[in-house]
Amino acid sequence: MYSEHLDLTTLNELLVTKRIGRTSIPNEIWNEIDSTNTRALELAADGAPHGLVVAARQQTAGRGRQGKTWVSPLDAGLYISFLLRPQVELTQIPLISLATGAAVARALRSACGIQVGLKWVNDIVYDGKKLGGILAEMPNRNTLVVGIGINLRDLHEQMPDELKGRSVSVEEIVGSPVSANQVAANLMLELEHAYSLLEAGEKTQIVELWKVHAVTLGKVIRAHVGNEVIEGLAKDIAVDGSLILETLAGDRRLHAGEISIRLKDGSYA
Ligand code: BTN
Repeated sequence: MYSEHLDLTTLNELLVTKRIGRTSIPNEIWNEIDSTNTRALELAADGAPHGLVVAARQQTAGRGRQGKTWVSPLDAGLYISFLLRPQVELTQIPLISLATGAAVARALRSACGIQVGLKWVNDIVYDGKKLGGILAEMPNRNTLVVGIGINLRDLHEQMPDELKGRSVSVEEIVGSPVSANQVAANLMLELEHAYSLLEAGEKTQIVELWKVHAVTLGKVIRAHVGNEVIEGLAKDIAVDGSLILETLAGDRRLHAGEISIRLKDGSYA
C-alpha cells in the first residue's frame, strides 16, 4: 500500500460498484470544501440521484454529531458523503447506521487488513479510541445523506485538547501508509452490498453483519435520553437496530442517541 491523496481518476479505476458512485452526474472530490454532507444535501435539493458521492481532501467546516466539529485537515482522513434515496420503510431507516458501520469495518479489513470495532450506533473505534464516525442526515422522506469520517493519518497535532489521546488513525494501527482511494473504493463496494440487503428487507443479516464487529454488547453502558440517564447491560441488538438494555427496572430499548461504555476503573468513555 502507498500514501497518495484522494483523486477521482484513481478512485474510478479502483471502483467496482454498480450503483454507488455510478450515477448520471459525476462524483465530486474537492481539494477543499466546507462539509461534504452540506454539499451532498445541496445536490440532493437540486434533484441529484441515489448513489452520488461527494468527498474531499480537506473540510473547513466538517460536521460531527451533536453539533460538534469534525476536524478535517488536508489528506489526514477520508471525508466522504453518500446521497441515498431510500426505497425502504421508514422503520428501517435506523438500520442504515448499522449497515454503514458494518460497511466501514469490512472495508477497513479488506483494504488495510485491520479489525476495527463498532460502538452503537455511529462510532468506529479501535482499542477504545475513536477511529471514525457516521453522520446521517435526513431532511425529507426521499433524501438521506450518510457522511463518514475516518482518521487515516496521525491527527494529534490538530486535535482539540479534549480529543488528544482519545483518537487513533488507520496508519497508526497498520504501521505503514494506506491508500485513501483504496479505502474509499472498498467502502463504496461494501456500502452497496449492505444497502442492497436493506432494500431486500434482510434486517437480521444487517444486524448480524454489525454484531461481528460490535464492542458494545456485554458491556455496562450509560445513555442520555432526553433528561433521563439510563444505565444497564447492553444485551443485544433488536431486528430494528435498537439496543436492548437490561436495567434494574427491566429491559429498555434505545432507538437513537449517544452512549458511553463503563471502563474497568468504573469511569465511562
Ligand atoms: C461523528 O461525530 O462521529 C460523525 C462524524 C462524521 C464526519 C463526516 S466527514 C464527511 C462528512 N461531512 C461532514 O461534515 N461530516 C461527515
